[in-house]
Amino acid sequence: MSDPPAPTPPAELFSVAGKTVVVTGGTRGIGLMIAGGFVAAGASVIVASRKAEAVEAAVASLSQYGACTGIVADLSTEEGAQRFAGAVGADHDRVDVLVNNAGATWGAPLTEHDTASWDRVLNLNVQGVFHTTVALLPLLTAGATAGEPSRVINIGSIDGIQVPILESYSYSASKAAVHQLTRHLAKRLAPTVTVNAVAPGPFESKMMAATLESFGEQIAESAPLKRIGRPDDMAGVAIFLASRAGAYLTGAIIPVDGGIATLH
Ligand SMILES: NC(=O)c1ccc[n+]([C@@H]2O[C@H](COP(=O)([O-])OP(=O)(O)OC[C@H]3O[C@@H](n4cnc5c(N)ncnc54)[C@H](OP(=O)(O)O)[C@@H]3O)[C@@H](O)[C@H]2O)c1
Repeated sequence: MSDPPAPTPPAELFSVAGKTVVVTGGTRGIGLMIAGGFVAAGASVIVASRKAEAVEAAVASLSQYGACTGIVADLSTEEGAQRFAGAVGADHDRVDVLVNNAGATWGAPLTEHDTASWDRVLNLNVQGVFHTTVALLPLLTAGATAGEPSRVINIGSIDGIQVPILESYSYSASKAAVHQLTRHLAKRLAPTVTVNAVAPGPFESKMMAATLESFGEQIAESAPLKRIGRPDDMAGVAIFLASRAGAYLTGAIIPVDGGIATLH
């Protein structure tokens, strides 16, 4: 009997060096945590968000650690997503990893959720993920094969799994939609593109600032792992999904929440 193949060394198994990675909303919060992880791991990262100053600041900060460029884009409309894909394609002939992270929330008493607030949240959180993925598909499939698929990583939320405490109806509905959209796209885009979702628990960000200021300690205490998330927790799961190690996962919703949604 011949020897089994030699195990792949971890430096190769988890490598994302040289990959082209797009992170939407990569200018702050969770997107910046993920973008930073990829830059430090030797990937070439493109961050995108609406504000030119935020893009400039994120690029300047991340470029200290590796390769990072930025594109100003509003991904809440189909045209915005198409323009963004055009700008990415002007400088790159392929994209290996797309992280659909840009998102918005809205919380108010039940009777104060008007159409405009529903549209704002769903247009970005759900349609934005869909249109950005479709617009970037030619670049995602350009070099991809069944053996080495390109990767889409959607950022959902534990609020799409469990019922949140706050009155954020459009947000929780949008994140449940992101999870199902992930599964639907995963089936459609196999075998050359994997599509998975990460469902974060609480992480420090502008979106979470008010909640963490008021309830941070209680939230950390309520987590089975007794803390809120750290940048490495988010970068680590994204790097895993983007590397050789994550090539056989698709359609998965992965909670990264210290056990908050999964162990209660
Ligand atoms: N933080 C948490 O605890 C937590 C938990 C679960 C899930 N999440 C999810 O994680 C993702 C990131 O959240 P975060 O907490 O880091 O939020 P954040 O601090 O508010 O960051 C949102 C990012 O998205 C960008 N963005 C907003 N609207 C955009 C648009 N129309 N087009 C393009 N970019 C846009 C923002 O930049 P500009 O303002 O410059 O556009 C910013 O870079 C979201 O999908 C959120 O739902 C967060």
